[in-house]
Parts: sequence; C-alpha cells; structure tokens
Amino acid sequence: MFMGIDVGTSAVKALLMDDASAIVAEADIALPISNPHPYWSEQNPADWWEATLNAIDLIMKDNAGALAKVRAIGLSGQMHGAVVLGADDTPLRPAILWNDGRAKTECDELETALPGLPLRAGVVAMSGMTAPKIMWLRKHEPDVFDAIRTVMLPKDYIRLCLCGEKATEMSDAAGTLWLDEENRTWNDDAIAATGLDRDQIPALFEGSDPTGTLRTDLAERWGMAKNVVIAGGGGDAATGGMGAGAVTHGSGFISLGTSSQLFVASDRYRPKPELLLHSFAHAIPDRWFQMAVLLNGASCLAWIAKILGETNIGDLLNRIEAQHKKPSELMFLPYLSGERTPHNDPYARGVFFGLGTDTAREHMAQAVLEGVAFALADAQSCLHAAGTYCELPGVIGGGARSLYWTQMIADIMGTPLARYQGGTKGPAFGAARLARLALREGTIAEICTPPAIEDILTPNQNRHAQYQPRLAKFRRLYNALREEYQ
Ligand code: XUL
Repeated sequence: MFMGIDVGTSAVKALLMDDASAIVAEADIALPISNPHPYWSEQNPADWWEATLNAIDLIMKDNAGALAKVRAIGLSGQMHGAVVLGADDTPLRPAILWNDGRAKTECDELETALPGLPLRAGVVAMSGMTAPKIMWLRKHEPDVFDAIRTVMLPKDYIRLCLCGEKATEMSDAAGTLWLDEENRTWNDDAIAATGLDRDQIPALFEGSDPTGTLRTDLAERWGMAKNVVIAGGGGDAATGGMGAGAVTHGSGFISLGTSSQLFVASDRYRPKPELLLHSFAHAIPDRWFQMAVLLNGASCLAWIAKILGETNIGDLLNRIEAQHKKPSELMFLPYLSGERTPHNDPYARGVFFGLGTDTAREHMAQAVLEGVAFALADAQSCLHAAGTYCELPGVIGGGARSLYWTQMIADIMGTPLARYQGGTKGPAFGAARLARLALREGTIAEICTPPAIEDILTPNQNRHAQYQPRLAKFRRLYNALREEYQ
C-alpha cells in the first residue's frame, strides 16, 4: 500500500493506492487562502499541516487496516510557493503562493542581473516564482529576509513536518528559478542574485528517490509500521504527469484544477522561454517537460458559482448545457489571478464583455467556461509554435469531471482529448506512484502506465469553426486592454 499527499491550493488531498495501483481511499480537507492586498495570495503553512493531519486521520476512520500497510508516502504540491523558515524552523510569515503578483519589478531586476537566466531556468522570471518573491522580501520585509534560515516549497515543508528532513526534488525546484534545469543542479548564480546562500536552500533529490522516514510519533498515531519511506515526490504539474502516464516523449495532459496546465513530457531539455513556456525537470531522472501555465482554471467556475450564489456546481453545469445552442455572445477573459502563458501579466484581471439586459446567469457561466477554453487554445498555440505536439492529451483535475466542459475544450482547441476511467487521477495519485518507485519495486514503464480511457472526445468540426472568430476576438480584447491593467 502507498500513500500520496497533494498540498493543493484549494485543499490537501491524501489517498491510498494498493499494490495493483487501485485507489482504495481518499480524503480532501479544504484550505483557506488570503488576499490581504491587491495581487497578494498567501496561505499559512500551519493550515497545510493541520489539513494533512486531518486528511490522514479521516482516511484512518474507515481504512485503518489499509493505512497500517502503507510502506511509502509520496508528496505533491502547489509549485513556486515561498515558505520562509527562521532559526527554529517555524515559518516567519505566511507563504507567498504561485498566483501572487507582487514581485514583477523583482523579476525585471533578476533578468537584468542575469540575462542568461531564462535559458538555464527554463522560463522567464514571472511574479509567482520563488526567487523574485524572496527578492521582494529583501526589499519590503528586511527583518523577515534577515531572519531566513531556510526557504522551502509547500510540499517540502510538509516533508519537514512528516520526517524532519529538509529536502526538495527536481520538479518542484524547477519552479524556483534557482535550478539549472538541464544539469539538474542548483544554479549558484541565481541563488546569489536573490541574496541567498546555497545552505539556505534544501538538498536536491530526484522525485523517485527516498528522502527520509516517517516520524515515529506519527507512525504510532496512524498505526503505521516503522521506517515508512518518504519519497521525493514532485510539483503538482509533474505528479499530474506521473498519474496520467505522461512520462514518455510527447505524452501529455491538460490539468483543470485551480490553475490549468497543458503539459507535454520530453526526453531532453527543450527551453523556449520566449514563448512563455515552462521547460522544467520532471520528477523522474533524465526526463523533462514543456508546459503552458494558465493561472486560472476550474477556479473560474468555482468563482462564478460563488458570485451567482450557486451552491451546486453540477446543477449549474447542467443548466448551462441545457441552454447552450451556440458560442456565447458574451466574452469572458479568465485572468482573475493574472496570467503566465501567453501573457506574463500578473496585473491582468477578469473581464466580462458584452453584457446586456437579456444576459442570464447561465450565459455568464457559459462565457466563463468558454473563456478558460480559449485560454487553453492560446496555451496550445504556444506549444505548437515550439514544435511540441501531443496526440491525445488526457484531462485531469476537478474540471475533468464535466463531459460538457471537456467536450467544449476539445471543440475550441480542435484537439481530441481523453477522459480517464475511475476519477481524475490527479497529482496525489502520481505522488503515490513516486512512493512506489522510491521502493525500487518496479520500473517507470511498469508503474507509470496511462490510466484506462473512459471516452475520447473528438472535436466537432462545425463547433470548432463557429468558435474561431470568437477566439480571435478573445485575443483582440486582451491586447486592447493590456495597457489598461496595472
Ligand atoms: C505551475 C503552477 C500551478 C501551481 C498550482 O507552474 O504555478 O500549477 O503549481 O497548482
């Protein structure tokens, strides 16, 4: 039995996977998020830890026998978060998250100091990434900066809580701007340009390496054996790839979680920073991936449901589908938290365009679903411009549950998409697979198979053609507004 823990943005998820790779138990604990100032996005590491404890306690309620058989735990987490620990290894302030937009100036400063950085770090400096946020602290919270003993990523903070080790692995280190992606080592020039020393950054492992063993008091709490291995794990993009079997060159997936990504695995490092792609180390040795990142995914659906006072998202989706005859007259730019690919614009924000007296709530919600799909079409264009194609991406994440939305995405992108059997097989599942790899009991090819396909969504060519002028307008609208954000 193996456990995967995903420290997400909207929830911590824990799951148990048996030796036949079936998911036998899952628990989610929701997380609060705070936006104390415009463009800020923060969470308390203590909330992640409490949610992790509660999720595993919840699994234990009905699955104590299975939990007792766990031999290894894999970690997954939201990427890029800056967790700053003081001398006693407690957080000095709330963690600054991946969708935080405060550090744009610091990105420019970092690239001026190190003009070759994007080619080594796999991506241009963007506000949500770890290094510029530490530079922001140096400037705006110098007392905090001076007190930093260690900078950690979200799931690595949970590793510290689980086993007392300060460690990270390639695929999450990839999102800091401190990793030399091709050589899979820390880039000391980038660390120094941030004002830090190498000893303030954790040791680097592969995601499939063991990094420590579960604390005995926690093993006792959950009735687990001694020496449960804690595997390196991965950033949630890479663990999503492990779960979806996106480990061989050209295999990929779309994640429709809080954020959304279009991810394609690669057998070598292929940087394309000028296209605002992220070319990062994968969670297994000798593999990389290229990824277009949308800062806004299924979070847009959750947002419109909340704004409209809709408590049942499934019911809302059914009503949108029932009235959907053609592309919406209304246009929604989904940039609620800014955007990375293809805009690198932390100041962008959401827009409804074309509201009328006849606009109903279902029209607004349809436009929101379409807006995310248009952004995915933009993401796909960036990958195609890099010469990167993925034949049949699977769809994972909460949004993948909706056949209606995923078919709409296939129609707008003009690409067939696969939906997997038995749930969305997201990052926590990939983390459990990394736990299994850490025990060296199987090969990557044996363990990281693509999940069985439930259905293949073939794009409807009529609808694809109808959507093309809308996609062009979507692009024009952002370009017309770009100067107005700030
Ligand atoms: C990836 C990214 C997000 C976060 C949160 O670059 O920023 O996907 O990992 O899920």
